[in-house]
Amino acid sequence: MIKYLFYGATFKILSISPKIYRFLGNTLGKKWRMGQDLSVYHVRRAKRIVELCKRYQIREGDKLLELGTGWLHWESIIIRLFFDVKIVLFDIWDNRQLKPLQRFLSQYAKLIDAEICMNQTMSKRVHKYIKAISSVSSYDELYNMLDFEYILEPSGTLQHFQDETFDSVFSYNVLEHIDKNIVSRYVHDIYRILKPGRNTMHWIDISDHITNYARNASRKQYLMFSDALWKNLLENKVQYINRIQRSEWINLFQENGFEIVDENSLYMDIGNLKINKKYENRDIHDLECVSLDIIYRKQNPNYIINFASSD
Ligand SMILES: C[S@@+](CC[C@H](N)C(=O)[O-])C[C@H]1O[C@@H](n2cnc3c(N)ncnc32)[C@H](O)[C@@H]1O
Repeated sequence: MIKYLFYGATFKILSISPKIYRFLGNTLGKKWRMGQDLSVYHVRRAKRIVELCKRYQIREGDKLLELGTGWLHWESIIIRLFFDVKIVLFDIWDNRQLKPLQRFLSQYAKLIDAEICMNQTMSKRVHKYIKAISSVSSYDELYNMLDFEYILEPSGTLQHFQDETFDSVFSYNVLEHIDKNIVSRYVHDIYRILKPGRNTMHWIDISDHITNYARNASRKQYLMFSDALWKNLLENKVQYINRIQRSEWINLFQENGFEIVDENSLYMDIGNLKINKKYENRDIHDLECVSLDIIYRKQNPNYIINFASSD
């Protein structure tokens, strides 16, 4: 618990100047990442996104939006190896790192054929792209080659996107970071900018992010804090999480018109963690859920039979 509180307090102090935190992330983080090898985590993520795109019929010429694309654009890059689509990469600050991306991809090239089921033609295409990505010297070159558009919008809102622009909107480890005061509007906008009949795919990490550093704490440690205590003691701007639970996410999407297509959530035993009153009446699926892998569809009104007008 001491380690947990130490990290919580550190993030709170760093929140006094998020710019300094981001500067450190972009300088020290880059050095750290250059020394890292591709992890099983990224290999799994790659497999997941390719399978989802196949299952939910991403088609040639589709226009996709990745929310919170981060330093690697990992999901978008992997999609683009396999599919001829246009992707808009959206974020609120620039933490991109080209060299670590190239390093990860060249390591992934050695695994990809064993990891992802594909024929020879596809394998040739994938390796051609990886080689080409490895030799670009700027993001402009990369984006031109892959038909990507990178948009930075510090307000973090989606309001400037036109209605029904995208064939899919997706994110990985992003929605838990959206300010809880704008999250309903955010989901509403995802619905608005998605084309009817198409899907939106999100991996939402609803675990306590401080425990990425204080590993001995419970993955749902934040359940023990009231709103007031959380806000004053641990909530911070640099690793902000909204503490929205599984059932609330499901309601939010449904209230905004989405129908659920698929869910693959992960659960973890929370043992005898002391739960705050705020969460006391939650069912076990909320308390133990640590991540949500969820696909929603915006219904296509052309396929809804209108019984009222049929006579
Ligand atoms: C944990 S990182 C995940 C990055 C990337 N998806 C990945 O998995 O490597 C969260 C990302 O969400 C972004 N983010 C935070 N608020 C956002 C918002 N309102 N809209 C879009 N992205 C946002 C952050 O800037 C950051 O890049």
